[in-house]
Amino acid sequence: MKKNLGSVLALYPTPVTVIGAMNNDKPTWTLVAHIGIIGHDRVLVSLAKPHFINECIKKTNKLSINLVDEGILKETDYTGSVSGKKTDKSNVFEYELGEKGTPVISKSPLTMECSVVDTYNTPNFESFICTIDNTYVSEEHLDDNGKINYNTLKPVLFEFPTYQYLKTGDVIGKCLSFSKKGK
Ligand SMILES: Cc1cc2nc3c(=O)[nH]c(=O)nc-3n(C[C@H](O)[C@H](O)[C@H](O)COP(=O)(O)O)c2cc1C
Repeated sequence: MKKNLGSVLALYPTPVTVIGAMNNDKPTWTLVAHIGIIGHDRVLVSLAKPHFINECIKKTNKLSINLVDEGILKETDYTGSVSGKKTDKSNVFEYELGEKGTPVISKSPLTMECSVVDTYNTPNFESFICTIDNTYVSEEHLDDNGKINYNTLKPVLFEFPTYQYLKTGDVIGKCLSFSKKGK
């Protein structure tokens, strides 16, 4: 029998993201690793209620989800170390506005522009349920068929138990190919 650690948040690694939102005419950025997928057309962004960015998201009902590679990890880490309540983070990244008006980090390999369609409240967190309006990808991370190539993109990952960053490893095979292999 495996050792029972009790109630441990252990569903890791998750991708590291920088959530962007407009604070009037300036962006603000927050590192978020508690994100998720709901069905085939919704994503979830889980934010502690006191964070600065929450009010900006609620005013606009829009946010951007920026994936992180090692090239922007230093700036990303910084956005998780200070709050926009005390420090203006608008200059941390170069950005452009997406078609829906969310800030898109120029050096992020992939950015999704999202609209908030619902909020799931738990005692200390509000989790924004979002639809995806646009997906901006650096062309170097598209394969010959125009699909996103996560083998080159190599998103930075996060795990809470020892509070570390990881990165994705090697491709080990195509989905549903293993069930077809003989024993
Ligand atoms: C590795 C890492 C992951 C984090 N993940 C989350 C998260 O999933 N949700 C959250 O609310 N805060 C998370 N944080 C904390 C916020 O990024 C941090 O408190 C930030 O300063 C809040 O900024 P704001 O007040 O400007 O929004 C994380 C921080 C780090 C360093």
